[in-house]
Amino acid sequence: MRGQEKIPVQVDEGMTLMEAARDYAETNIDEIPADCSGCCACATCHVLIDRDWVIKVGEADKNSAETDLIEYEKGYDRMKSRLACQIQLEKKHDGLVAHLLDNHKL
Ligand code: FES
Repeated sequence: MRGQEKIPVQVDEGMTLMEAARDYAETNIDEIPADCSGCCACATCHVLIDRDWVIKVGEADKNSAETDLIEYEKGYDRMKSRLACQIQLEKKHDGLVAHLLDNHKL
């Protein structure tokens, strides 16, 4: 979601949310530049998971590189913030909604 605009993305299981957004969105998603290409080193794939999906997706592990990277990012929300490159998409994620941040303006 970009504000109220839905950007649909259709992908198979196995790729990450970042790859889905970067490579398969119908519209360019500039908010996810993914500067490190998924190495968990840049935080430019920071998204907010929709509250209806937080439990299914799960929080970032407290003692993880992901949390170390995003906890001081602008817009960080302990429950909803995730790095899209760290979310491996599975069948249970069908319909997942993630909200975009202005990561390209960092
Ligand atoms: Fe760099 Fe996700 S793409 S941390």
